[in-house]
Amino acid sequence: MDGVEIAVADLDSQQAKAELARLAKEIAAHDQRYYAEDEPSVSDADYDLLRQRNEAIEARFPKLVHKDSPSLRVGAGPAKQFSKVRHAVSMLSLGNAFNDQDVVDFEARIKRFLSLDETAELAFTAEPKIDGLSISVRYENGKLVEAATRGDGFEGENVTANVLTISELPKQVEAEDFPDVFEVRGEIYMSNKDFVALNEKQSQAGGKVFANPRNAAAGSLRQLDSSITASRPLKIFAYAWGEVSALPADTQHGVFEAFARWGFPVNALSERCVSAKDMIAHYRMIEEQRALLGYDIDGVVYKVDRLDYQERLGFRSRTPRWAIAHKFPAEKATTVLEGIDIQVGRTGALTPVARLLPVTVGGVVVSNATLHNRDYLEGRGQNGEVLRGGADLRVGDTVTIQRAGDVIPQIVDVDLSKRPDDAAPFVFPERCPICGSHVVRELNEKTRKLDAVSRCSGGLQCSAQVVERMKHFVSRGAFDIEGMGDKVIEAFLADGLIETLPDIFTLAKRDADSFKKIRDREGWGGTSAQNLFDAIDAARSVELARLIYGLGIRHVGETTGRMLARHYAWVGNFITAMKEAAADREGQAFVELVDIDGLGDAVAGSLADFFAEEHNLTVVDNLLQELDVQDVEAVETGSPVTGKTVVFTGKLEKMSRSEAKAMAERLGAKVSGSVSAKTDLLVAGPGAGSKLKKAESVGVEVISEDDWFELIGVSSAP
Ligand code: IVH
Repeated sequence: MDGVEIAVADLDSQQAKAELARLAKEIAAHDQRYYAEDEPSVSDADYDLLRQRNEAIEARFPKLVHKDSPSLRVGAGPAKQFSKVRHAVSMLSLGNAFNDQDVVDFEARIKRFLSLDETAELAFTAEPKIDGLSISVRYENGKLVEAATRGDGFEGENVTANVLTISELPKQVEAEDFPDVFEVRGEIYMSNKDFVALNEKQSQAGGKVFANPRNAAAGSLRQLDSSITASRPLKIFAYAWGEVSALPADTQHGVFEAFARWGFPVNALSERCVSAKDMIAHYRMIEEQRALLGYDIDGVVYKVDRLDYQERLGFRSRTPRWAIAHKFPAEKATTVLEGIDIQVGRTGALTPVARLLPVTVGGVVVSNATLHNRDYLEGRGQNGEVLRGGADLRVGDTVTIQRAGDVIPQIVDVDLSKRPDDAAPFVFPERCPICGSHVVRELNEKTRKLDAVSRCSGGLQCSAQVVERMKHFVSRGAFDIEGMGDKVIEAFLADGLIETLPDIFTLAKRDADSFKKIRDREGWGGTSAQNLFDAIDAARSVELARLIYGLGIRHVGETTGRMLARHYAWVGNFITAMKEAAADREGQAFVELVDIDGLGDAVAGSLADFFAEEHNLTVVDNLLQELDVQDVEAVETGSPVTGKTVVFTGKLEKMSRSEAKAMAERLGAKVSGSVSAKTDLLVAGPGAGSKLKKAESVGVEVISEDDWFELIGVSSAP
């Protein structure tokens, strides 16, 4: 800082204005060096002084706070992030096939869904699965206007400025048939050669060295300074699309050809196939060339070629039914098992975890691997099969680990010839390492076999479970309460500030009445305490799906949470149904639950278990007192069957049962397996029996399959 600094108290408004402008510029320059270039030029303490001075001046002259003031940027520090972009069409992931049989099953499943004959010809495209990061690039009237990363699939980061630096990507498409609105999706990647050169350059300059081309591509794209991105050799392959005003073809490969015509890079190894056998042959061909391609791929993606079929097939939770990724075999490495820890999860499951001598597998350093459960550790699989020749795992063993894609590393083999003489069998604990309660293994009622998972019987009294439940509750996919990290939860629980989930929402009020305030705790201050209270307050208004997921019920993940929310639409409805399902496992509410998009017995059972527990109901009731749970908008609100409960029965001739169900749900209807007074519509095909009788007796409207298509406005049935 040059010149003499005038004390804040002595500044007049003219001087204050000039000083704020100077500080804003200086702070922004430091931020740039710190965040984007990783090269700070002042100490943290000096930087803090600048910010403090800025704040002090603003406090004295609030009218002079400029809209670009450093104090207005999100969080305590400057903006470290890109702005968010909500995807008009979600960016989903793909299901996996790991072997040829999975591909055969994929084809058969699709034919079944589409009611196609087994021998009918069905075309697919097969193309390399690029190991990069996916991107959605939006064009309006031919001009590239926005680019967003995938993020969580629903919301990504706005990286337009950076994507504009990718030379391969057209910034303006002149083609006559290019639709007004077109979101091109594809994979950004870095070639192996460019990756090696970049790392060399980085290491000479003392900069960051990347572990693999994928990380290098991701790191290069996520630069706040696009001139850095511009200096990185990023490439792209186009392979899909998001929101579009029109499509140039009615097949996947047709759109591909249009991509190429419009000037987008497409992968030359994409091919049209007409059977599982064909796809597998193409997979082998690509696999053989893998090492020579010059860029990383991790499998082959198959997609149903006809777009009308894709539409009919739709999506199953987060993956399309019409596509699958056939992965290359996992990569393996050998290392030493140095220890076995037992972790207690949120639901009380005791999971043994292998501590390994760190080893690199497929470009990633691995030091832990899951050991799943006691049986796995002792050499048995879930269905009684023998693993590793029946060998157990002991500390000191030499083991082979494998990583398949993004799957957690697994121990797949043990070399008994290298087992140390003193290696002792692992003794699985009979008591929970956290709370000392007995460890139990439930008996599976169906199979009459012991459940694979050992559980602590301590429930909410086990602090591992309370801690984990809380962490889960405030996590991103659930209540997303910023400032309530693991450390805070652990400390608050230890000091009795919170005991159960609803306590989170009464924290501010209790703090106000307390002599021992949060702001006086070590590491806290007035601002951070207030920020936490604000974040908690903001979380009161919550989507039903997040609430359901946040409860941490066994088997109920984010997708199931969303499915349930969509089905029950509002919280009262959901709770009533759950209580009914819990009270009678043969009753209609339970059957309805099992039926929701193939939810199944296990998930329904665990929901019912949860809602059968008095203390859980108390927690939920207390939570609801504090929350404002948002209703769910139906998938499609304007359809003639929105909000209606529909039952399909008899033989359907133009669509399979699963297609009928998916179609109805997409239109906002609720599909139930049984007829009751709550049913609005029975779609009956030939051979309908008891459900038809029941419908007639309770006065439910009955229509044919053709009537159904007419009702939903599809004149010619598919
Ligand atoms: S199609 C609705 N095609 O794989 C599915 N994805 O595991 C649209 N990926 O997030 C994706 N190469 O990042 C598709 N040729 C390809 C791909 C590909 C790589 C990535 C993509 C996606 C992930 C799914």
